[in-house]
Amino acid sequence: MINRRSAIRLAGAGTLSAVAGQQLVARAGTAELPQGLALGRGGHGAHTGAAMSTVRPDDAGTRPDLEKFTLPLPLLRTAKPVTTRGGQDVYLSSIREVTAEIFPGHRVPVYGYFGSWVPPVIRARSGRRTVVIQRNETKVPVSVHLHGGVNRDVFDGQMSRPVTPGGVFSYVYENDQPAAALWLHDHTHHTDAENVYRGMSSPYVVTSPEEDALGLPSGEFEVPLVLRDGDFGSDGRLVFTMDDTEHRSTVLVNGTPWPRMDVKRRKYRFRVINSSAMRFFVLGLSDGTPMTQIGSDASLLEAPVTAPVVVVSPGERADLVIDFSQWAPGTEVDVVNYIGPGPMEDVGQVMRFRVGADAPDDSVVPERLTTLPPVPAATVKRAFTLESSEPGVTPMFGSINGRSFDMGRVDTTVRFGTTEEWTVTNANPTVPHNFHCHLAHMRVVDRSTGPAAPNELGLKDTVQIFPGESIRVRLTFDRYRGVYPYHCHMLDHGAMGMMAQLKVV
Ligand code: C2O
Ligand code: CU
Ligand code: CU
Repeated sequence: MINRRSAIRLAGAGTLSAVAGQQLVARAGTAELPQGLALGRGGHGAHTGAAMSTVRPDDAGTRPDLEKFTLPLPLLRTAKPVTTRGGQDVYLSSIREVTAEIFPGHRVPVYGYFGSWVPPVIRARSGRRTVVIQRNETKVPVSVHLHGGVNRDVFDGQMSRPVTPGGVFSYVYENDQPAAALWLHDHTHHTDAENVYRGMSSPYVVTSPEEDALGLPSGEFEVPLVLRDGDFGSDGRLVFTMDDTEHRSTVLVNGTPWPRMDVKRRKYRFRVINSSAMRFFVLGLSDGTPMTQIGSDASLLEAPVTAPVVVVSPGERADLVIDFSQWAPGTEVDVVNYIGPGPMEDVGQVMRFRVGADAPDDSVVPERLTTLPPVPAATVKRAFTLESSEPGVTPMFGSINGRSFDMGRVDTTVRFGTTEEWTVTNANPTVPHNFHCHLAHMRVVDRSTGPAAPNELGLKDTVQIFPGESIRVRLTFDRYRGVYPYHCHMLDHGAMGMMAQLKVV
């Protein structure tokens, strides 16, 4: 059995070899490498984590000049199925190395699902099967996970099931779950943090007839907003440095730094997805006007929650309604972020709405949005402790219950049909974590710091845990048997070992 100390040493060994590898690259002059080589550098790197850059190049943090709120927000297209016959919608996506002009005038290499830095949204229907044929046209292994999806383990896009370069895999999603915004992202062993950072990410929305009947803002007034941060070089290229929370200070929405959106004077529904690897956002509107939250990760809330701030940690979603009729035409309202790290003049700004002309609005936000099953009683209790190295401390490590991730190990065995209560604790003094479980959605019971917040009473798949805090959640494992991961969704922490596996038997 591996104890905590030897786990730390093992994790440290991996990290050290990554450092050594990167130092060689750095000495060769990372900044002068042809841009294409910056993608997936070091290949898979097996357990050495060679693709995890730990040395930040000299020109990082010198992004090209850009006046904030000048670039238009790209509106995400709806993906078109190649066929809808046989009771299922089939999509074809090529995962490619492509170029994108993130900063105007600078074409840089990135990855893209559907071959695009700003990929379309798959819109699935609750209860109707979706098949996504993913062709890996990159030079690195990939694995596509539907975050928040309830799926068989073979289709869950896990670390142990990579699609090799040139390979094709058809992911089958039953969508036997409520309406919610889910998220497709890379989950390859050791390289997911970097792959997602470089673009392997796209939204996946499940809708349902019950949700349609509510009369929420829809069509062009329902807008996915995929938030993230990034560190950029002077040539506008994305710079990835493992566990770097300090320097990813450019905020992007739908792949665009600090965009602007022209809105009509009516209600909009915004599906906010935090696709950052490490950044928590504490979102608000610049004049303090409250926003209405109608849904979170994996379902609508039973009733709308109105609050001046909404916290979204990496992997979490917030389904928000903003009524722009409360501002005069010509008003500019910004989405702001109240929390660092990074300079607040950068990370404190997210995007700008410019309020335009009136528009008819027959949408409503009903008082009652859905009815969720009561929080079930649990028959099994477990405790999990998350811990990572504090910033600046080497070797970097991440662990759950003192053990760093081992893909060949099952950490927790769960009986099919059981409801369990998990108490998950963040043992770090200063580093926040969050907790994500595949397969089973969570119901929050309470926190060591107080009751569950009203906006975390829906079906959750990712919960925030602040330093020193514990959260109690209940999960029911009555859908599929198989092996599934649970982990901190700060992706660099997951890649550092803060990940484990359960087996439903
Ligand atoms: Cu969003 Cu294990 O993943
Ligand atoms: Cu997931
Ligand atoms: Cu973490």
